[in-house]
Amino acid sequence: MRRKCMLLVLVGAVVVITVFNAEFIDVNRFTQPIREVVLKKDLGFLSSFPDVSTTEHSSAKPSPSVTQLGLAKLRTDSIKKIYGRSWDEVITPYNQTYLIDGRDICNVSPPPFLLLFVLSLPKNTGERQAIRQTWGSNANENGASFIISTKLMFMLGRMANETLSGKVLQKETTKYKDIVQADIVESRHNLTNKMMNGLRWVKTYCPKVKYILKADEDTFINVARFSDYLMKNPNINNKTIHGYLYPRGGMVQREGRYAVRNEELPSAQYPPYLSGTSYILPFDVISDMLDLAERLPYCPIDDAFMTGVLRAILDVKIQHSQDFTHMLDMKMSPCRFHTHIAVTNIDINCMHALWNLTKHAGSIDCNQSSFYDKKICSIFIF
Ligand SMILES: *[C@@H]1O[C@H](CO)[C@@H](O)[C@H](O)[C@H]1NC(C)=O
Ligand SMILES: *[C@@H]1O[C@H](CO)[C@@H](O)[C@H](O)[C@H]1NC(C)=O
Ligand SMILES: *[C@@H]1O[C@H](CO)[C@@H](O)[C@H](O)[C@H]1NC(C)=O
Ligand SMILES: *[C@@H]1O[C@H](CO)[C@@H](O)[C@H](O)[C@H]1NC(C)=O
Ligand SMILES: *[C@@H]1O[C@H](CO)[C@@H](O)[C@H](O)[C@H]1NC(C)=O
Ligand SMILES: *[C@@H]1O[C@H](CO)[C@@H](O)[C@H](O)[C@H]1NC(C)=O
Repeated sequence: MRRKCMLLVLVGAVVVITVFNAEFIDVNRFTQPIREVVLKKDLGFLSSFPDVSTTEHSSAKPSPSVTQLGLAKLRTDSIKKIYGRSWDEVITPYNQTYLIDGRDICNVSPPPFLLLFVLSLPKNTGERQAIRQTWGSNANENGASFIISTKLMFMLGRMANETLSGKVLQKETTKYKDIVQADIVESRHNLTNKMMNGLRWVKTYCPKVKYILKADEDTFINVARFSDYLMKNPNINNKTIHGYLYPRGGMVQREGRYAVRNEELPSAQYPPYLSGTSYILPFDVISDMLDLAERLPYCPIDDAFMTGVLRAILDVKIQHSQDFTHMLDMKMSPCRFHTHIAVTNIDINCMHALWNLTKHAGSIDCNQSSFYDKKICSIFIF
């Protein structure tokens, strides 16, 4: 009971610190200051889409569902600009059954302030275990300044032929109580589906959380650095998604690995969007994202669709930080690692090595190699 009170006080303190000033946070133990830029309203990109909608729906009254949604006319116009039309009803329901509903994950007191939301494949028991033992372990015991109440959750689909793995997962679920599994066949094309059903889970079973940190299971999150970022960032409470920005968005591919069909997204280009390997999503944008996504065609490129298309239509702000990584093969030096919130393309051994490294933050000599080994962590260059 005493501990819980203490925790409440600490969480309260975090909020107060965030509201006023976080200058006392010691960032000197990191080698560089946080670098970031805010991208202002960027609906400008929409003007580059051909306006093909006006002829089709000339007598357009706003449809009831769009009105119910509270979407401004601007949003409806944006949808028409991108898709050439809009839809009155749910055309892409994200309502798959939860095979494992994880309803107890957030059922704790106090409710988590931050949810570490990790996309995972059913077979990757080892990766999940490595995350549990390293950056996903009770962050409150990580010393440093990470005093935010946090929960870890793994979002899984299922294998097409799944039979046995169900039992294995049941054991793991009972033991660690951090798994959610949706009845979605794992495939690249289903990633958006998996993300959206994950967000619906957050909305349903974790409704008091303030932030979701989305990460892939081969990502290492530097929790102390992340905590500093949360506390130092003035816009964090204001419907803003944070991550590594692709400012030009990029062309929509019609073939190959990232192919999207014309009816899934008719525009030639994506709006600016964030790399999907890791980003911070405030809880207060989730409902709008789900409502909107269900009224648009399915788009398989989850990060570009969610942090690009949906975000732009909803006029949610986006904030770039180089502290998140973008490319799968990004190399970095150990000292640069300390300034990063997220590093990607990390295997199990490397995850443990990086965890060791974060525990020595502040006292580490960047030129001394005993804590990092290129053979263990191929992401390191010297
Ligand atoms: C999802 O919603 C659609 C449309 O309302 C419905 O037809 C379908 O049966 C639902 N699926 C599940 C798994 O509930
Ligand atoms: C399911 O499919 C995977 C990949 O194709 C295969 O390795 C595995 O043996 C299959 N499992 C069963 C139970 O058939
Ligand atoms: C997921 O992907 C598979 C194969 O790509 C597909 O058959 C299935 O309909 C998709 N959706 C769900 C909800 O599993
Ligand atoms: C939050 O966003 C709204 C709308 O963009 C703006 O008016 C307000 O000043 C912002 N508040 C903060 C604290 O940045
Ligand atoms: C991490 O540190 C522990 C204890 O210092 C050590 O036993 C372990 O080998 C280290 N792991 C890696 C991958 O560096
Ligand atoms: C690490 O090495 C670089 C160049 O090799 C040098 O400039 C720097 O002073 C060294 N730092 C420490 C802490 O020894």
